[in-house]
Amino acid sequence: MKFFIDTANLNDIAEAQALGILDGVTTNPSLMAKEGITGKDNILKHYVAICNIVEGEVSAEVIATDFEGMIKEGEELADLHDQIVVKIPMTKDGIKACKYFSDKGIKTNVTLVFSAGQALLAAKAGATFVSPFVGRLDDVSTDGLNLIQEIREIYDNYGYETQILAASVRHTMHIVNCAKIGADVMTGPLSAILGLVKHPLTDIGLAQFLADYKKGNQ
Ligand code: E4P
Repeated sequence: MKFFIDTANLNDIAEAQALGILDGVTTNPSLMAKEGITGKDNILKHYVAICNIVEGEVSAEVIATDFEGMIKEGEELADLHDQIVVKIPMTKDGIKACKYFSDKGIKTNVTLVFSAGQALLAAKAGATFVSPFVGRLDDVSTDGLNLIQEIREIYDNYGYETQILAASVRHTMHIVNCAKIGADVMTGPLSAILGLVKHPLTDIGLAQFLADYKKGNQ
């Protein structure tokens, strides 16, 4: 399973990268705004800064909502760095843009996916990644993990190569459950990734080992 970090915060990205387990980064306009990154030039520079920290794929989202605008913006983003994946919203124009980029060999991430039908369309349009939003479905009392399961089944039925990128992952158990179901990738905050490290028995066991070592090595 690939691990992406879902943030535009350079310190968090660097910390996850230093762990040695990071495969990429996803961002979105809200995450960029949260870091105070505004204005086209600054946003483009920030994507390059992210690419210079990580080795893997970096999703950069288009703001345009019409086909021509998405193509123009997406091509500009893709030209920034070879790690850039063009992130496109799940709309009619988004699907057309996804097919366009896929025909040109430019990687895509179809975002804001909330149904199996949307994921099927994204795969047919040749998306590199499809991003079902697990946490936001949970927020409205719908089982987000069930959607991952449905998409897994459909993609396996037909051998679609589009990677299921479980997005809107909020905590550690989301990661574990997505892995059990067979999501290809998960993207979540640093806290969810670091949560995987923790277990109270590990802490207790380590404290005991160190105390016993100290007793015998005064
Ligand atoms: C996906 O790529 C989005 O950036 C993200 O996962 C959304 O997560 P949220 O629902 O926690 O905002």
